[in-house]
Amino acid sequence: MSSNFGDFQMRVYADAVKGVNSRYPFDFRSIEHKAAETLPDWVYRYVSAAAGDGRTQQAKIDAFSHYGVVPRMMVSPPQRDLSIELFGKRLISPIFMCPIGMVGLCAPDFHGDIAAARASAATGVPFTLSTFSQNPMEEVIEEVGNTPSFFQLHLPNDRELAASFINRAQAAGYSALVVTVDTWELGFSPADLERGNVPQFRGFCMQNYYSDENFTKHLAKPPHEDQAAALAHYAKVCVQPLTWEDLRWIRSQTTLPIAVKGIQHADDSRLAIDNGADVVYCTNHGGRQANSGISTLQLLPEVVKAAGSTPVIFDSGVRDATDAVIALALGATAVGIGRPYAYALSYGGTESLTHYLKSFLAQFDLTLSICGFKDLAALKAAGVEPALTAAR
Ligand SMILES: Cc1cc2nc3c(=O)[nH]c(=O)nc-3n(C[C@H](O)[C@H](O)[C@H](O)COP(=O)(O)O)c2cc1C
Repeated sequence: MSSNFGDFQMRVYADAVKGVNSRYPFDFRSIEHKAAETLPDWVYRYVSAAAGDGRTQQAKIDAFSHYGVVPRMMVSPPQRDLSIELFGKRLISPIFMCPIGMVGLCAPDFHGDIAAARASAATGVPFTLSTFSQNPMEEVIEEVGNTPSFFQLHLPNDRELAASFINRAQAAGYSALVVTVDTWELGFSPADLERGNVPQFRGFCMQNYYSDENFTKHLAKPPHEDQAAALAHYAKVCVQPLTWEDLRWIRSQTTLPIAVKGIQHADDSRLAIDNGADVVYCTNHGGRQANSGISTLQLLPEVVKAAGSTPVIFDSGVRDATDAVIALALGATAVGIGRPYAYALSYGGTESLTHYLKSFLAQFDLTLSICGFKDLAALKAAGVEPALTAAR
């Protein structure tokens, strides 16, 4: 599989020579700035919000500047292969889109899950659909083309509804179940508390629930006729203290590969595997849940070591393709992009997100090839070096 994604930049320069400059930005700061200008204020505030005083949110970004990779010369790889095997599928690269509940609200037409699925089809970058989506999971997967996609599960405390979500995801054709274990209740978010800003409490991104008869059978009227009653029922089923027994139950419900999302401790890495995980997902939920003050990147090597031969995938703080290179060199098998892709959706839907993902892949490929790495095995063998740079 050729992974010369860097060719994208030559097309950008060729278009510019013909007088057509790119309509969309290439760096995170500009992307975030454009999103802040474009998104409705309440959506931007929700996506950018952090738990507590935001120290974990900041630490997860700063952590990348403490590592670097050392470039090697005269080993230019003209053909690169950056593909990986994950969840029994061959992926064109180790980059994927994280589950972001409310990403549905980030596209101009408020159907961001569909727009992201189409960008996934156009680029080969897998999309992870959150339980919270503006369109039901069956409609979203219709749009992903040949690119594998994953379904993220927030486990409801109603077993019938939970089993239904799992069975629907498998029947619809998702390639894996991403079970989130760090969000059994909401993190303490001052920015959201100030404005009472949790979109699902106002009926947004509830389409997986509202399209499920195991949810609607508890309502006297359909959700669109009595939203208050639907949300009152949601409030009853959404919170649930999770235990490893719950993971064993999920395992018993499906043959889909399972990634357990929210792991930061080596012991939890082992426990996740012992209780049914095929993949460990190391993340701090973008600093929105536990405001522990520690970066997930720093914890990644121990989680990887404890996981042994089980793949560990990673997100939190990836703002630049160089960050993905560092996480891979520290042992991750695949790396998730979070907020940046939600922001990139805001100013042009599928088109601007496709541009962003192609640009990210180009920078990823060029960073590796200019450093002399022809594939990910070469990067992992070289590893990282400490960097003296100050935090970004
Ligand atoms: C607005 C928002 C909503 C999110 N919703 C979910 C979700 O529904 N399920 C989930 O597992 N993770 C969710 N996450 C966490 C992301 O999957 C990912 O872990 C996080 O965004 C990574 O941090 P970063 O975006 O700062 O890089 C959400 C993140 C954001 C910013």
